[in-house]
Amino acid sequence: MTAQRPARIYLDHAATTPPDPAVVEAMLPYLTTRWHNPSSIYVEAQEARRAIDDARATVALHLGARAEEIVFTSGGSEADNLALRGVLGATRQRGRHLVISAVEHHAILDPAEQLERDGLAEVTRVAPGPDGRVDPTAVEAAVRDDTVLVSVMHANNEVGAVNDIAAISRLVHAKNPRTAVHTDAVQSAAHLGVSVDRLGVDLMTVTAHKLYGPRGAGALYLRGGTPLAGQILGGGQERRLRAGTEDTAAIVGFARAIAIAAERREADLSHDRHLQARLIEELPRRVPLLAITGPRDLDHRLPGNVSCCAGFVEGESILLALDLAGIAASSGSACTTGSVEPSHVLVAMGVPDDLARGSLRFTLGRQNTDADVDRLLEVLPGAIARLRALSPIPVTEPPASWLPWLAS
Ligand SMILES: Cc1ncc(COP(=O)(O)O)c(C=O)c1O
Repeated sequence: MTAQRPARIYLDHAATTPPDPAVVEAMLPYLTTRWHNPSSIYVEAQEARRAIDDARATVALHLGARAEEIVFTSGGSEADNLALRGVLGATRQRGRHLVISAVEHHAILDPAEQLERDGLAEVTRVAPGPDGRVDPTAVEAAVRDDTVLVSVMHANNEVGAVNDIAAISRLVHAKNPRTAVHTDAVQSAAHLGVSVDRLGVDLMTVTAHKLYGPRGAGALYLRGGTPLAGQILGGGQERRLRAGTEDTAAIVGFARAIAIAAERREADLSHDRHLQARLIEELPRRVPLLAITGPRDLDHRLPGNVSCCAGFVEGESILLALDLAGIAASSGSACTTGSVEPSHVLVAMGVPDDLARGSLRFTLGRQNTDADVDRLLEVLPGAIARLRALSPIPVTEPPASWLPWLAS
């Protein structure tokens, strides 16, 4: 008789979400019988073209945009790269100043750095407050006459901080009407609903696989009249802004997923908020020397996001212990060539490096239950206590620099 494997608990929805069964069902025909190239002339190809047109209309509807303002991409990274390189490439005569926040995803940080290195951009990075939110007036202050683009994320993927993008757009446009405003709404689109007019943005990035859709489809919203130079050249697809034979199945799945997310928004929100509030309340009570990071006010925090740092222990070790106990979670650290660097987000927020090394991120989703939260609360305190007991770093009184974080 084989022992049954206990059910695993998935607490990493900010990394990716399980595709909704209705999404998979909508995609299947385009993988099996309607697989034709949408650019071809025959009837089957025209059906694939129509499916993409319908998907574009659906995605546009849910972003409050017009269909012709949607550029399908392979996902969030590509849309972020297209926004930065595309706007800077199209506005060279006017300027090359770019304003971003210091806590952006690497899909913004890295192209910005490369554009800077290549002499194609001058970049101002705006620091966040200690809760990870970016002050709109600090963004406004960074804007100059030659600023061609401002890019600030709607919600941070590590600490869940939600920025006031409407205020940022208003202030930036008032100071320099020729500056385009982009927001990376990859994390927020599922939870908050993202209307481009309410946010006041000229460009916006979304991706399907964070809203219970498939990998391989995302979009850049591009407000009519915003200059953008295509970055992938070739077959002229997506109005010459993104060449490449379209992934019809992924695009159809994306549209189905965004429609389901809109239908379920209220139910998902209250479900994710309930589980999130329980963990934010209970974790610091059950685990000594644990600081919740990110906004404490849930109105400014992405539903389902619980990020924290445990002192005197490495986040990666905790993740391995949780994995063995059947719980999948993540940390904010980028593990490169064996050394664990503290997350750039936590460092920018001012979290001391030694505390930031114990960072953890739990992100809850549709399938999680109160029993999952109970199980994490049961497993985590013991796992951390065991790791601290084994640690070569002596567990002492917390350094003074940790105290404001432990108290908040
Ligand atoms: C805020 C943010 N932007 C961009 C991306 C990249 O999106 P994709 O995985 O679709 O390329 C992610 C993915 O983790 C993200 O969290």
